[in-house]
Amino acid sequence: MVQPFKAAIRGIGSYVPEKVLKNSDLEKMVDTSDEWITARTGIKERHIAAKGQSASDLGVQAALKALKNASLAPADLDLVIVATITPDMPFPSTACAVQHKIGAQCGAFDLAAACSGFPYALAVANGFIGAGIYRHILVVGSEVLSGFIDWTDRSTCVLFGDGAGAVVVSRSEGPHGIISTYLGSDGSQGSLLQIPGGGSVYPPSEETLKNKMHYLKMQGSEVFKVAVKTMELAVKEVLAKAGLDLSDVACLIPHQANMRILQAVAERLEFPMEKIFINVERYGNMSSASTVVALDEAAKTGKIRKGDHVVLVAFGGGLTWASTLIRW
Ligand code: UT7
Repeated sequence: MVQPFKAAIRGIGSYVPEKVLKNSDLEKMVDTSDEWITARTGIKERHIAAKGQSASDLGVQAALKALKNASLAPADLDLVIVATITPDMPFPSTACAVQHKIGAQCGAFDLAAACSGFPYALAVANGFIGAGIYRHILVVGSEVLSGFIDWTDRSTCVLFGDGAGAVVVSRSEGPHGIISTYLGSDGSQGSLLQIPGGGSVYPPSEETLKNKMHYLKMQGSEVFKVAVKTMELAVKEVLAKAGLDLSDVACLIPHQANMRILQAVAERLEFPMEKIFINVERYGNMSSASTVVALDEAAKTGKIRKGDHVVLVAFGGGLTWASTLIRW
């Protein structure tokens, strides 16, 4: 479908908390080793939020940078969307907290698509702008996963980190902007990756606390297999929608969960690793913040240039998967 208006990323910014947790620190916390973590995941370190630093706090830092980069003021925004699975609280939304803290006056809501949250939110923003409803939308991906990790479970605690990224998506003229988006889900496999307690199925209770149901649970090797398949599918689908193919893509910005997943996706797509932006070694998996922080770093370090076709692709809890094709 041809949209009446085009949406483009007008500004971008990211923020990670100061504290760095290295693999050598984790060796002192659980039965693991730098060697295992590096070989099985590619992760060397991750950032951890300070006590009291919430998802909206991280999101605000990223949002202010994105607004500055876009040369816009909070008052220019028509909507705030925050993708997060680690919200400040069940309600009100983290997006409302961001709206208030930056001083915007507009609608605000959260979007829960786990690690696919950022490309999901970009698709929503693209729809609002494309239909001519709004001109400037702040899209944030922000996570404080450290608060939802069982720090005694070596199978998950080595994998995740905290961080935030933000973009301002604006109505634009000319050839640059979002070309196509693709979203997928499979709720039948939701139990592979979840925080089971604290919602309406298992409201918080002594029982849920005792059974550690408020912590993230993952069946890693099962998730690994679906991640590789669906990321391959999502890249192909978003390109097919635009009538382009992989040879048109200058840079692939994938969700940063595991280096081996990225290598497997590259192999299946027959896409060169040098064209895949990777920063998992410095941040681990930041869920909805991963793709936007990677996009920010790729743009700032000249890995993507004006006119390049860039594909964002993510996979996560839900299960969900999503991709975005952008002409930068
Ligand atoms: O962002 C959303 C999506 N998430 C992902 O995409 C994550 C996908 N999954 C993965 O990245 C990988 O499955 C993991 C990194 C989580 C695990 O790697 P794996 O190669 O699938 O390992 P495994 O779970 O099959 O475990 C292999 C062994 C086990 O020992 P045994 O049973 O073979 O004796 C684990 O107990 O590795 C052991 N192990 C560890 N050893 C040292 C698991 N975690 C650790 C650890 N340190 N931290």
